[in-house]
Amino acid sequence: MSVTRESMHGQWSTRWAFILAATGSAVGLGNIWKFPYITGENGGGAFVVVYLICIAVIGIPIMMAEVMIGRRGRRSPINTMRALAKEGRHHPNWQWLGWAGVVAGFLILSYYSVIAGWAMAYVFRAGSSAFVGATADGIGTIFSDLISDPERLLAWHTIFMVITMAVVSRGVAKGLEKAVRYLMPALLVLLLLLLGYSMNSGAFAEGVAFMFAPNFSALSWNGVLIAMGHAFFTLSLGMGAIMVYGSYLPSDASIAKTSVIIALADTGVALIAGLAIFPIVFANGLPTGSGPGLIFQTLPLAFGHMPGGTFFGTLFFVLLVFAAWTSAISLIEPAVTWLVETLHMDRIKASVLTGFMAWFIGIGTVFSFNIWANNKVFGMTFFDFLDYLTANIMLPLGGLIIAVFAGWVMVRGTVKDELQIRNPRLFQTWYVLVRYVTPFAVVLVFIFKLRGDI
Ligand code: TRP
Repeated sequence: MSVTRESMHGQWSTRWAFILAATGSAVGLGNIWKFPYITGENGGGAFVVVYLICIAVIGIPIMMAEVMIGRRGRRSPINTMRALAKEGRHHPNWQWLGWAGVVAGFLILSYYSVIAGWAMAYVFRAGSSAFVGATADGIGTIFSDLISDPERLLAWHTIFMVITMAVVSRGVAKGLEKAVRYLMPALLVLLLLLLGYSMNSGAFAEGVAFMFAPNFSALSWNGVLIAMGHAFFTLSLGMGAIMVYGSYLPSDASIAKTSVIIALADTGVALIAGLAIFPIVFANGLPTGSGPGLIFQTLPLAFGHMPGGTFFGTLFFVLLVFAAWTSAISLIEPAVTWLVETLHMDRIKASVLTGFMAWFIGIGTVFSFNIWANNKVFGMTFFDFLDYLTANIMLPLGGLIIAVFAGWVMVRGTVKDELQIRNPRLFQTWYVLVRYVTPFAVVLVFIFKLRGDI
């Protein structure tokens, strides 16, 4: 029996609109900023291999589960989990997954916005030709000048949060489709341009070897956890974002196909970004493990030395801001839909309220790069701590719960009916993955990581 509920918050016009929006959510700073720097910090090749395995074995099945749950429930994640649990005569406590997701969304958005602010600042650095002819040292100084200035960071963080709230307050199903349709391909073209530059910059072979020649002795269990956490982060999984987007998906669209397309697009962008960045790192003798500043210290070198670099550099950072923006929206959408559904708040008020909360927490991240740089939580700066807590702990746990819910709590017939996978073998494979493989893998990585600490 099929259920024809519709979400009160709107619906995507077509399957492609959903693919675009979900790709917009998935492709963001995670691919272009985070993936290269955590790859660099964790020794390269082996980390990339683990990350790719996690995308295939954990990411895609959980994405399908999240979209499926979302479409079945057609409500905010909190209310969807509660309603579906009730339908299956299970305890309403499953709604806590939705709550945890809302919290994770706030925490991630709070620092995401600060980093997106760096990208905004770089639009103006690039536009004023600040990179032209610059040396690695000069570029390093531009970056450290920026992050050591709390006022400037706060200003950009505020601007980014305001534009995010502006879109969320209008409802994501409206403006987002168009923005993603044109801007994502444009970003891809610019990444390919950078890749072309890197291929000719001299250290391409070294960059490729760093990214793809696995050296497992360079990878710790903590590195494995980071790779797994990043598979969730980069696909926007584990906190309800993709679930909300799924709740706007037309009933006849194939969940399996769309999930695979989104994961491939997302992974492709990350790999291209890495391949563009590491050859520049090696050609300039820069450290691979320089952390969150990596792209801001390498890509400007490429723009500073290529013909038309001022133009391309400006365009690149504009598009990066857009990519961050289409991701940021999905981080507070679960909270906003809940406020609208349950507290009957109007969408504008709900967006401003949630945006303000994330903005406030973000001040901690702003300070963690300057005046609080030496204040450590568990040996990490406030920013590193938030990132670790959300990406490596909250998202995998959320994903684990989603897998258990789809695999063990929901009735098999319902799940099958909603997924509409015609090939029985394919369905069975997915079912085994969410029931056994993904929960087991997540728990195993947690255990090994904890054992490694002792
Ligand atoms: N996936 C986005 C990126 O890679 C970030 C993001 C958006 C996200 N929504 C999310 C991460 C939900 C985790 C959960 O930049």
